[in-house]
Amino acid sequence: RETYGPVSYNQDGKFWEVFGYDNVLMLTSDPETFSSDGSPFVERAESWEEDKTILNLDPPRHRQLRSLVTQAFTPRALARMTARIAAITNDLLDQTIQRGEMDLIADFSYPLPVIVISEMLGVPSEDRARFKKWSDDMVISEYEDVTRDNLAAYNARMQAVVRRTLDELYDYFRVILAQRRVLPRVDLISDLLAAQIDGQSLTEQEILSFCALLLIAGNITTTNLIGNTMLCFDENPDTLERIQAQPDLLPQAIEEILRYRAPAILIGRYTTRNVTINEHIIPRGQMIIGWTASANFDPEQFPQPERFDIERTPNRHLAFGHGIHFCLGAPLARLEAKIALEILLERTQHLRRNHNQPIETVHSTFILGPRRLPV
Ligand code: HEM
Repeated sequence: RETYGPVSYNQDGKFWEVFGYDNVLMLTSDPETFSSDGSPFVERAESWEEDKTILNLDPPRHRQLRSLVTQAFTPRALARMTARIAAITNDLLDQTIQRGEMDLIADFSYPLPVIVISEMLGVPSEDRARFKKWSDDMVISEYEDVTRDNLAAYNARMQAVVRRTLDELYDYFRVILAQRRVLPRVDLISDLLAAQIDGQSLTEQEILSFCALLLIAGNITTTNLIGNTMLCFDENPDTLERIQAQPDLLPQAIEEILRYRAPAILIGRYTTRNVTINEHIIPRGQMIIGWTASANFDPEQFPQPERFDIERTPNRHLAFGHGIHFCLGAPLARLEAKIALEILLERTQHLRRNHNQPIETVHSTFILGPRRLPV
């Protein structure tokens, strides 16, 4: 906010950027003015139309579709998965802990959420190497670091990769859908196939897009939450020691990690009418990026925001967004992170980052975290 002001226009990307807590809260609280659906305003609207998920729908369709899966993600429903998440965590550690070193990402924080969401959806978790490639391709540039000023070229390159990836994902899920139609199981895919809204089933494309969203949204973000935790501990070894001595501090520490190093750093909206924000007139049909990462460092909301404080109260960070699109998977991400970190800290005596190897971060416009993290 200090560099760009609370509102600025990005010439290169042709979108507006909005900083600060109140502004991001406003963007996420008023879907009538700030729509998640860009299809009336973007080029290639047909392809946008086809790929629509709850992430880019507005009410009432958004609410109808979201309500079909909310049950599966409530803290109560997830409590039943605690033992399974712990078992997966222990399995992953059994495979690596004897070595004395591992890449926290490849060996631990990537496989855990992907196995969990695969099991919830009902797809074979052995296919996870393919899921990883697809998830990475959707959000990460292999080629270069992306900055505020090379966004347009980057986005153009990414668009082709995203199209190919989505088509591969849809082909993959189409086969599973056909199997579940014949033989339903207790899984989210079978639930979506059986679901009806006002007597109407979802279209095959709606189900395919939903599956792709759940697989990808539940992946890289939670991976990075665990990776970012290690980075925060690395910078604040006293915090790690405190948590080791007092594990009940962990849930609150995870909230501070979400604030301080949010795995997803922005949300996107489109203006449905002319609006004025901090004296800037933004016309209808413009894309606005709301920097949740900037909201999370707003000194008016978080005194001394640069201080990493695991006992910060209140801590109303916006890492999971806000309003009707508030992250559906937040209870799952919190549970996975808590169980994974509890067991990791319990089973390792001296968990430390390997300082002989550099941290490599993901190259992405909206994801923040390490892509390799030797510990
Ligand atoms: C939405 C972040 C984990 C599924 C969102 C949004 C954010 C976010 C910021 C709001 C987007 C917007 O307002 O436009 C995160 C972070 C995670 C995480 C930081 C991990 C630390 C997960 C997991 C799942 C998931 C584990 C599911 C398995 C979703 C879905 C939405 C969403 C389906 C769309 C909700 C809607 O539009 O109504 N997430 N997420 N997320 N997230 Fe997450």
